[in-house]
Parts: sequence; C-alpha cells; structure tokens
Amino acid sequence: MTVLAVSSVSKLFPGVRALDQASFDLQAGSIHALLGENGAGKSTLIKILTGVYTPEAGTLMVDGQTRKFATPRDALLAGISAVHQERNLISYFSAAENIMLESLPNARGMINFKQMHEQAAHWLESLNVGIDPRTPVSKLSVAQMQLVEIAKALAQQAHILLLDEPTASLTPHETTHLFELLRQLRDNGTALVFVSHKLEEVFELCDRVTVLRDGKNACQSQPLAELDRQQLVKLMIGREEQIPERPDTGRHSNDNPDSPALDVRNVDTLSGHRDISFSLKKGEILGLYGLVGSGRSEFAKALIGLDTITRGEIRLDSIPATIKDVRTALAQYRMGYVSEDRKSEGLILEHSITSNIAITIWDDLKNSLRLLGNRRETAAAQPHAQRLQVRTPSLQQQVGNLSGGNQQKVSVAKWLAARASVLIIDEPTVGIDINTKNYLHELIWQLASEGTAILLISSDMPEMTLLADRILIMNDFKLTGEVANTRDYESVSQAIMSTIHQQDTTLEQH
Ligand SMILES: Nc1ncnc2c1ncn2[C@@H]1O[C@H](COP(=O)(O)OP(=O)(O)OP(=O)(O)O)[C@@H](O)[C@H]1O
Ligand SMILES: [Mg+2]
Repeated sequence: MTVLAVSSVSKLFPGVRALDQASFDLQAGSIHALLGENGAGKSTLIKILTGVYTPEAGTLMVDGQTRKFATPRDALLAGISAVHQERNLISYFSAAENIMLESLPNARGMINFKQMHEQAAHWLESLNVGIDPRTPVSKLSVAQMQLVEIAKALAQQAHILLLDEPTASLTPHETTHLFELLRQLRDNGTALVFVSHKLEEVFELCDRVTVLRDGKNACQSQPLAELDRQQLVKLMIGREEQIPERPDTGRHSNDNPDSPALDVRNVDTLSGHRDISFSLKKGEILGLYGLVGSGRSEFAKALIGLDTITRGEIRLDSIPATIKDVRTALAQYRMGYVSEDRKSEGLILEHSITSNIAITIWDDLKNSLRLLGNRRETAAAQPHAQRLQVRTPSLQQQVGNLSGGNQQKVSVAKWLAARASVLIIDEPTVGIDINTKNYLHELIWQLASEGTAILLISSDMPEMTLLADRILIMNDFKLTGEVANTRDYESVSQAIMSTIHQQDTTLEQH
C-alpha cells in the first residue's frame, strides 16, 4: 500500500536547484533507501516532507490525500516524523525532555516528570543504549545525541518515519540494535525512508531505492535486489567508482622510536580516563576504537586542552606539553584537531567557506580573521575546497547553507590547510559520500607519508581497517587492548569486537 507519493517536486535556493522534479513512492511495511552524493538533495527532500521547506512545484500525497505542509507540526499530525541530519536537540534540556517534547505527559497542565522519565527510558532502552534520561543533552557525545534524536522520533509513533543519516556517528554495534528495531517497525507496517552513505547498511536493511543526482531522479523506487553495489554507485556518481590504493612509501624507515611525535604517559582526566598510555610515531596512523560512550572523543579533547588532565604527562616531540586550548595546541605544538562535532566546535556556520578554512592559518598569517583580506583568504582556502569538491555556488557562501557532507568537507579542509605535525582526526568521513571519502582516505595516507603523525578516531570499521597501522581499543575510559591491523576486514573487526566483548563480560562479573 502506498502511504506516501512524491511527484515532480522542485526546490530552488539562491544559485542552487536543490530538487528538480524529484519523485518516489513509499510503501507501508517497507524500508526505502534515499541515496545520492553530498548536495544531491536528500535532506532538502526530507525537509519538504516534514514541512520545514515548501516546494516551488510538485505534489505530496499522504494516505491517498494531497497534502501541503506549512509547518513541521502539520507533517507530524499527518503521521510523519523524522530524524534530521543536523541535530535539533535543546542542549540545556535533559534527554527525556527532548524525547518527550512533542508529547509531554501532563495532568491538569502540570508536566508529569515521573511518567516522562519512564517513557523516555522506554524508548532509550528499546535502542539498547545506556543513557540516563535525566542527563542534560549538553553532556552527551555526538553519537549519544544521535541516539536521543532517534528515540525522539520513535516516541512520536508515526506511521511514516524518515531517517536522514541516523547511523552517521554510530559504531556497527549500536547500528545493529537500531536495525533490529527498524525491522520490527517495518514488520508492524511502518513505512521508513533511510538515508545513508554507508552502502553496506543500505543493502542490509532496505528493500527499495531512490537515487538523486543533482536534484533529479537517477532511479526511482527500484527494488534493491535488482542492483549491485557497483551499479548503485554508478547511479549516484554518474560513472564507475575509483578505489584508491595506499601509496607504498616505506614511511617508517627513518623512525626514531625514542622520540615519538606524541607520547602519552599514565594520563588521568577530569572526565574519567584512567592511566592512558600510548605513543604515536611520525608518519603513523594510530586508530582509536571503542563503542559509543567509551570515551574516545573525550580523550581527544583532553589532548588539546578541552578537558583537564589530572595526572600523567603528554610529550610532543619529547617536549612536555601544557595545552590550554586548540589555538595553543596548533601555535605552540603543531597539533591539530578535526572535531567530530562540526556544529558546535568545528565550524562557524554564519561565516563563509573561505573564512572557515582560513581560521587555522591565522597564526601563520599573523593576522586576525577580521583583518585578513578577502583575497588572501580565498587564495588559501580555494585549493583545499577544490580538492575536496565542496559543492557550492560560491566560496563566499555561508557554511550553514551547505549540505551536511559539504560542511564536513570544509571542516576537514581547514585542518589540511593548517599543516599540523600531529593531527587528531575524529570521525573524518561522517556524512561524506563515497567519492569524497575515497579521496579523503588518499589525503590521510598522503599526510602520513609526508610525516604527519595521525591519531584516527572512527566508528566506521571498514575505514579503520583501511587506514590504521594499529588500533587501540578504549573501553569505559581505559585502554583495554591493541589490535595489529592486518587489513583483513573480517579478522580485524572480529579481533576488535572480541577485545571489547571480553571487557564487557569481565565488567558484568564484578
Ligand atoms: N538553506 C539553504 N540555502 C541555500 N542552499 C541550500 C540550503 N539548503 C540546501 N542548500 C543547497 O541545496 C543542495 C542540496 O542540499 P541537501 O542538503 O539537500 O543535500 P544532501 O543530498 O542532503 O547532501 P549530504 O549528503 O551532504 O547531506 C546543496 O547544493 C545545498 O548547498
Ligand atoms: Mg543531507
């Protein structure tokens, strides 16, 4: 049964035709993949279906009736709920308040907090995540926020559920639970739309697929079983995928094991890390893996001064380092940090693409952003934006108006411009399409081969096994193991998961 029919929908933004007569239909009890490169129009379509944007042309039919949504509330009342790509949580509210915001249980005008916490806890438990509903959202990691967003959408119990890159920040572990739940919803008749750049997930979960290219249909509501990965990629990018090879540069030849680029000794932090020790060599890509909530990103933040180190020592190039903030990290110690949280730390959304990329070269140019001439900024930013194929009508465009993946490209580009000697990269390819992802992997290899020491945090297991030389496992704010990377995906991911699982069972026994 068709519950949603989208016909010839078009949407214009200044200088961009985001959607050009796009169509698809959605069936009850099915999971429909919506795919396309960064900037293809996926999120714009989701926002039209949820009343955030009004289309210039085209029609929407929900349950056989033509509909026009003026507000998100209208769409919700028609039974459509969504997890949007950018986070929309209110950070000073608790997880529970956010989840139940649209449907707060109340008696005579008073909010029933006990009931609210119970119901929120129910939705969080259904996702099998250990988040206390009372936690303020500002205290959660990006992945945990994503899970709260999902719980919030589930709490609406809508019959049409639109998920715009719901797994972008999740590890395969959390994703597995989410998928079990989505399959249950499907079996109970819910119609789902699933946007993702991770094609393995798409093949695992979805039954039909619509591909957008430059806002137009490259295919429409086609059974997924008719397509293989190669065909799907070709529909998305318009040509065959080119998979990069790792350059063989013999990069460890002139290593001096006594002076690692980054040496971390017995470090404790205020947020709860205990006795963290490891060293990172010049030209090495060291992976840091762990489940959501294990403390990986928190440790990266401690390294660049965003959390307090309460014990132990950090040495950069053998020199004990005291790092206050991101700027000293870069200016004094040549250590850079690509944040996973582009919305609050990575980018200044109201500024242009060039200003954002040029931020990290402030100190090099001995100038402040305001004084930095537009021409010099553009000259510094352009090669990077070009190499990463940031899709935009102009480099003066506000970053906040770019598609999610293109924002991520800008965030990474600015650190490539910084020429750090130690680079901490947290989830570099979240939300980035296949083509650019391959290209970013090449860039990371290239930086390493030029001698940059790289600490890589990634929840994307294929990415981890492709890039890292060895992989540290973090569990509950401690390092609990190290896995040598043989580059064989199956055996490495198994070794990682069993290291994590071992720890889980010992924890349970206590
Ligand atoms: N509010 C806006 N103002 C101006 N342009 C916009 C706005 N929102 C989206 N666009 C543009 O519309 C196009 C489609 O963007 P959209 O966010 O739908 O892409 P997407 O397919 O979701 O990409 P991604 O995979 O990166 O999330 C892009 O070129 C984007 O820059
Ligand atoms: Mg998007």
